[in-house]
Amino acid sequence: MIRIEGGRPLSGRVVIGGSKNAALPALAAALLTDEPIRLKNVPAVVDISTMVNLLERFGASWNRDQAGGLTVQVGRIAGTEAPYDLVRRMRASVLVLGPLLARAGRARVSLPGGCAIGERPIDMHLGALRKMGGTIAIEHGYVSASCGRLTGADITFPGKTVTGTENLMMASCLARGRTVLRNCAREPEVVDLAELLRAMGARVEGAGKDVIEIEGVDRLHGAEHRVIADRIEAGTYIVAAALAGEEVTVDCCEPAHLGALLEKVGESGSEITALPGAVVVRRPGGRLRSCDLATAPHPGFPTDMQAQFMAMMTQAEGRAAIVESIFEHRFMHAQELRRMGADIRIEGNTARVFGPTPLSGADVTASDLRASACLVVAGLVASGPTVVHRIYHLDRGYERIEEKLRGLGAAVEREKE
Ligand code: EPU
Repeated sequence: MIRIEGGRPLSGRVVIGGSKNAALPALAAALLTDEPIRLKNVPAVVDISTMVNLLERFGASWNRDQAGGLTVQVGRIAGTEAPYDLVRRMRASVLVLGPLLARAGRARVSLPGGCAIGERPIDMHLGALRKMGGTIAIEHGYVSASCGRLTGADITFPGKTVTGTENLMMASCLARGRTVLRNCAREPEVVDLAELLRAMGARVEGAGKDVIEIEGVDRLHGAEHRVIADRIEAGTYIVAAALAGEEVTVDCCEPAHLGALLEKVGESGSEITALPGAVVVRRPGGRLRSCDLATAPHPGFPTDMQAQFMAMMTQAEGRAAIVESIFEHRFMHAQELRRMGADIRIEGNTARVFGPTPLSGADVTASDLRASACLVVAGLVASGPTVVHRIYHLDRGYERIEEKLRGLGAAVEREKE
């Protein structure tokens, strides 16, 4: 668990690590070639270890250095099954489906099942892979897929899906002919994956736009790639600084990836300066102001920042309407915030936060990664200690969060559960 003694103002500089959600597909892409993929700026978080464990089952050897470098090589595919115990721990395991199918002609991946933040089915991944010639059956809780060589196709995703777009980009790199993917997710992580794939010899155009076109090639080769900065980790410290800070520099991030968030943090009363590779957050005197927001696919406000922003809105003057448009159950942190004294009312996919209300520290439990971050952020301004339990969720996606917050002056300790 993590214990936070609230009330210490944050100041100084925090360094942001590599993006978890960009590193995960980059690791899955290593399945597409027998040569080594050398990644830099890979965060030391549990989801990355889970993905590496999964790749080991498929025959990967790997090597990690102290400086965030991770090299993975899948010389020969030694297995094609992603078992329940790993997929259950991390839904992004589904990212191996496309590359395994493209390289080995078959894959068996456990269905992810229910998830704390919503249904999150993978029907869009499967529909698109079928269009490329994959034969897919769902049996015994597993997706069993097989194919000869995949063939290029014209595919329109019925809705925006980040890992779905990534899966299909990877699958089509080794397909016969041209694939056109329409209504693609435009997240920076999709663009980063396209860069790695191009470095591996793939012919991918349009990543970051609605339509991505891929001309299949016969083989891909090894490559070196630096993973982009984690915009959600950066966003979490930006919100923490806006809520509890004096002046904080969030360093080694990409302000261009943070547009919608920076706009809202500015609207709520903090002073934001975007520099090349850094964001400075200054909290002028006076109260924060409430502002409304609705989560949306990139470049909209990220669902992965909704919980942390809600923590901040508990201390803002007025009423904030927060609409969650991506995941139907992503308000479970609201209940825990209420236990700390927040006034939050939920109706359907809208949370109304009435502020400011003083928060008092409490024992709280989070149900997912970003909800845990929300509770840590709330703890920074609560009176008395806040103890966040089940922090394995936090460790899935935040590197050394207690050290980084301590570096900014917060009183945060990790303790045995
Ligand atoms: N959806 C479907 N069918 C599909 C795929 C998705 O209906 O086949 C629905 C989902 O249920 C959801 C929406 O579409 O309502 C968007 O889901 P998406 O597929 O985009 O989510 P994801 O790819 O599973 C990634 C991130 C999440 C992030 C979402 C949305 C990774 C590894 N994960 O998930 O990150 O919340 O995009 O931006 O990239 C996190 O880091 O904490 C996290 C949950």
